[in-house]
Amino acid sequence: ESTTLVLVKPDGVQKGIIGDIISRFERRGLKIIALKMLHLSRERAAIHYEEHQGKPFFDGLVDFITSGPIVAMVVKGNQAIKVVRTMMGTTNPVDALPGTIRGDYALTIGHNVIHGSDSELSAIREIKIYFDEKEINRLD
Ligand code: GTP
Ligand code: MG
Repeated sequence: ESTTLVLVKPDGVQKGIIGDIISRFERRGLKIIALKMLHLSRERAAIHYEEHQGKPFFDGLVDFITSGPIVAMVVKGNQAIKVVRTMMGTTNPVDALPGTIRGDYALTIGHNVIHGSDSELSAIREIKIYFDEKEINRLD
C-alpha cells in the first residue's frame, strides 16, 4: 500500500469535477484518507513546485495554482502513486488518452486539472505541505 498527494487544481474546481475525480478513485478501489479545500499562498505554491524554480513556466505555474481554491487529498491503496498517475494521463493533455482525467477534461499543459505525486519521496514531501499528521485517517 502506498499513499499519494492529489490536488484538484483551480481549473478542475471551476469546472465542477471534484466529485467525478473522487468517484474515479473510489470506483478503482483507492481510499481517500484526508481531504480539504484551500487557497494556496504563493509561498506554499513555490515550495510545492520547488523542482521547477527557474524554469520559464514557473511564474505562470504559480499564478495558475494560486488563482482560486483547490482540493487536496491523500489517496491510499495498492501502488496508489502509479495508479493515480496512470488515471491522470500525461502532463500535456494534448497527448492524454480519452478515459484519463486529463484526456477527458483538459486541453493545454498550463491548465491540466489535477496533480498527483510522481514518486514515493515526492508523496512524502508533498503530503506534509498540505496535511498535519493528525488530519490523516490511518485507521482502516
Ligand atoms: P503535476 O502533477 O502538476 O506536478 O504535473 P506533472 O507531474 O505531470 O508535471 P511536472 O511536475 O513536470 O510539471 C508541473 C506542472 O507544470 C505541470 O502540471 C504543468 O502544468 C506545468 N508544466 C510542466 N512543463 C511545462 C511546460 O513545458 N510548459 C508549461 N507552460 N507548463 C509546464
Ligand atoms: Mg509533477
